[in-house]
Amino acid sequence: MIELADLVTGGQILRIARWGEPSLHAPTQTVTVFDSALHDLVRDMFTTMEAADGVGLASTQVDDNRSLFVYHCPDADDKIHIGVMINPTVTLPESKNRHLVSEEEGCLSLPGAYSPLARPDFAICRGQDHNGNPIEVVGTGLLARCLQHETDHLSGMVFGDRLSDRSRKHLYADHEALAHRYPDDWPQTPKKEFDPAM
Ligand code: NI
Repeated sequence: MIELADLVTGGQILRIARWGEPSLHAPTQTVTVFDSALHDLVRDMFTTMEAADGVGLASTQVDDNRSLFVYHCPDADDKIHIGVMINPTVTLPESKNRHLVSEEEGCLSLPGAYSPLARPDFAICRGQDHNGNPIEVVGTGLLARCLQHETDHLSGMVFGDRLSDRSRKHLYADHEALAHRYPDDWPQTPKKEFDPAM
């Protein structure tokens, strides 16, 4: 058994893959072995998410095909939730209990770009923790959005797949305008905060 606290720091920063790279558009494999190799990946993912200033990071974004994500994200009451979710599934409210909210959404694999996207404002995510024990996270606010976004990643979906052609075009244009700030190996090399005045 290993504690979550032993996994949230001390990893290596991994390169974050971009939309269009194969790992981001392929489904992941169920995790069956909860060993030190898995824990090393979790540790590296926490460190990478922090370096990129993200609220969630899925394995497909660091070119790995095991089904897991990490998160460090506020809920509707601004309570911060930190954890790792392995082999997740998301359950959303049905019919009259479903409330869609359209908020700006972004992805570390298309850095610098945001688009409004309607999603349910409540989600239950079930899976396993880093020791293989069953866990459930109830998400409201940004956490509800994060749990849905990261679980999408593990089936090879990015949030652009949920946008209209028009919105996706705008999103890519926003990314292109800022892409020069993000080195190819970001966040291994930090982003450039401003353009030299020339
Ligand atoms: Ni993403």
